[in-house]
Amino acid sequence: MRQAKKQNNDLAIDRLVIVSNRLPIALTRVDMGQWQVQPSPGGLVTALTPILSERGGLWIGWPGTLEKVNFHELIAGAGQDLGYVLEPVSLYKEEIDQYYYGFSNEIIWPLFHDLQTRCNFDPTYWKMYQSVNHKFARVTAENARRDDYIWVHDYQLMLVAKELRSIGVENKVGFFLHTPFPPMDIFVKLPWWTQILSAFLEYDVVGFQTRRDRNNFAYCIETMLKGVQVDARKQVSTMKTPKREIGIGSFPISIDFRDFAGLASSSVVSQAATMLREAVPNQQIVLGVDRLDYSKGIPEKLRAFRNALERFDDLRGKITLVEIAVPSRDDILEYQTLRTEVEGLVGEINGRFSQSGWTPVHYMFRSFERTELLAYYRAADIALITSLKDGMNLIAKEYCTAKVDENGVLVLSKFAGAATQLDKDSLLVNPYDIEGVAEAIHRAYNMGINERQRRMHRLRRAVARRDVFWWVDSFLKAAITREQTT
Ligand code: ADP
Ligand code: F6P
Repeated sequence: MRQAKKQNNDLAIDRLVIVSNRLPIALTRVDMGQWQVQPSPGGLVTALTPILSERGGLWIGWPGTLEKVNFHELIAGAGQDLGYVLEPVSLYKEEIDQYYYGFSNEIIWPLFHDLQTRCNFDPTYWKMYQSVNHKFARVTAENARRDDYIWVHDYQLMLVAKELRSIGVENKVGFFLHTPFPPMDIFVKLPWWTQILSAFLEYDVVGFQTRRDRNNFAYCIETMLKGVQVDARKQVSTMKTPKREIGIGSFPISIDFRDFAGLASSSVVSQAATMLREAVPNQQIVLGVDRLDYSKGIPEKLRAFRNALERFDDLRGKITLVEIAVPSRDDILEYQTLRTEVEGLVGEINGRFSQSGWTPVHYMFRSFERTELLAYYRAADIALITSLKDGMNLIAKEYCTAKVDENGVLVLSKFAGAATQLDKDSLLVNPYDIEGVAEAIHRAYNMGINERQRRMHRLRRAVARRDVFWWVDSFLKAAITREQTT
């Protein structure tokens, strides 16, 4: 039995109820009226799936379709035995348009990534956000038992505890924000900042990815809300209101290291990685894996790669950038524009630099199976992560974990949450500094095997030490040791 599971069992929680916008699986109707069950995209699902598989429990969320379906029958028919129970929250088109695309992804997402000029502060979005948060709370109240620990996730659902309290639910309720929390002068651009900030006071514990996010939040609360005292001295600080005492801490999320490393060592993945390498002989592979999102800095990455090819002769014909982009939020204009920009840059670079036998950028726009993704990680000599801002960025941790031969270099944006843990042994870059990133690519290319292995060894150790089980244990420990003052 793994150490982390043993610790979990010591935590006296009857049942864990996860509430997130998406369920870990998404239903899509394919040919002839058949349904396909696929894993949902994103880091939240990667991180939380092993937790519920280990502990059991209940996961409440949107099943990814707007059609009315008999969800439980469909899932049973697909033979999915996950080891935990799923409960769908059905949403109408108008709700998805205004709560998910609108409020969550045209307001909160850009704002929390310090990109406020991309926000569309449409007041109708706010009304729908409140009503859908209420809907999630209602489904949670209908399915939760008295002693369940309810754990709400991410920016789509910040009001759920407040809505739960309004319908009389008294369970302990925690919240974890997967995105960054912005500095106060950016946060207060939000016309509804008071309501959102006050809604956090209905949780028992609020968790952030980094100390920076926690401090931004604590400073907002302390400065902007009257009657709340924040004691920020300890690792898990406390906020006191007349009603309750709330823990606020930083808990950097991670992955199931053992599972990823085990699969990365399998013969299927090893063989696939060898084939990928053989397809580009005598070249180093630079790998980018991102949801196609403007916060990931994909155009900046391509410009830096172009700059590297312009300036460093030794890279031409010797280095290939493989960029894997997973489709995301494509109903939003900003995401469509980004796709056009990325595809234009790929075409421009390839048109300008390609030679017989060498295409500098290989671009793929689709979702991959985990084994395929791991084969790319294993094959890649360098991983290039250039997020303009990122809650954590699990790709960085997945890449290190998959490099079982320790022969790889991580080039990492200093604005990704992962940089707070992986700063010493990666090559840290500012993605806005195109020339600086180009120089880091050149340095990574020329780095000798001994230095690569020394750095990667330490990076892997850091990821292994604080894996996703450590993350859940530290959050739940903070959650259950907290005495409510009411
Ligand atoms: P975010 O949550 O913003 O998408 P993360 O880097 O934290 O960013 O997590 C991304 C997750 O999505 C990772 O677990 C990664 O394995 C997965 N992923 C990324 N690209 C693909 C892809 N093309 N196909 C399948 N999964 C992907
Ligand atoms: O925090 C990042 C996040 O929004 C997660 O909630 C989600 O896992 C991921 O990005 C994917 O985004 P979406 O659910 O909008 O496709």
